[in-house]
Amino acid sequence: MNASDKRKLPIGVFDSGLGGLTALSELHNLMPNEDIIYFGDSARIPYGTKSPSVIRKFALQDARFLLSKNVKAILVACGTVSSNCIEDVRRETGLPVVGVIDSAAKDASEVAKKGNKRVTVLGTSATIKSKAFENALKNEGIDDIIPVACPMFVPLVEYWNPSIDDEATNAVVSEYLSEVARLKPDSAILGCTHYPLLFDVIQKHLPNTKLISSGESAANALKEELVVLGLDNNSGGRVEYFTSDDASLFASNAKKFLKGGLDGNISHIDIEKY
Ligand code: DGL
Repeated sequence: MNASDKRKLPIGVFDSGLGGLTALSELHNLMPNEDIIYFGDSARIPYGTKSPSVIRKFALQDARFLLSKNVKAILVACGTVSSNCIEDVRRETGLPVVGVIDSAAKDASEVAKKGNKRVTVLGTSATIKSKAFENALKNEGIDDIIPVACPMFVPLVEYWNPSIDDEATNAVVSEYLSEVARLKPDSAILGCTHYPLLFDVIQKHLPNTKLISSGESAANALKEELVVLGLDNNSGGRVEYFTSDDASLFASNAKKFLKGGLDGNISHIDIEKY
């Protein structure tokens, strides 16, 4: 395949469910002329409470599905996969693969270096256990790190209607963040792609902290990488969605994540075949 055909191939994006749509919408805004294939593993969400070997098995199946769609690069729009097994995804696919760890750590440390050099990392249990964000922040020269596992945030986003004034939402967010708020971090990494849906309420509980959306940072990093590799496209723009659960359920739940809902075809696939 020649270089100009290769750059016309789609970008693959995957997450355990709908959360990665927050990263996808950033990517689509940044690179409106790219075709994108999104896979959300809604039938097997959450990943963040599972063991590293199960997360790895799921991630490799997700990546193989995208490979079958002939993608040119992959955005791992899931903090849990990015922190536990991104190297395995790279090895399995042989493609350029960008996750949400390094770019968010860089963005958070740039903010913190202008302040007290204190960063908090909010993520799923599996993400926090992996220490991937902590290691990436240390590489950026930040040692004062407050890691917080927030296992109730994903169900709150997926199954509740969280809002800045909602009592239950505030009770859960306060449970995880009241101690962190006292420590006044300069920046907070939203280390799970579901968390931008809680942006306003997290900001309310950490009023003087700059919130960094890891999906947004990763979309920027992928754009840079595609340009450097000469793989960016200027003649596409179609987004196609696949889910391991029911397609119409995925479409109706996605309205929460993407204002106006999904614009593009949605299909069900059997992920166990990959
Ligand atoms: N969006 C995933 C992440 O970024 C969600 C976590 C989950 O499936 O538990 O980690």
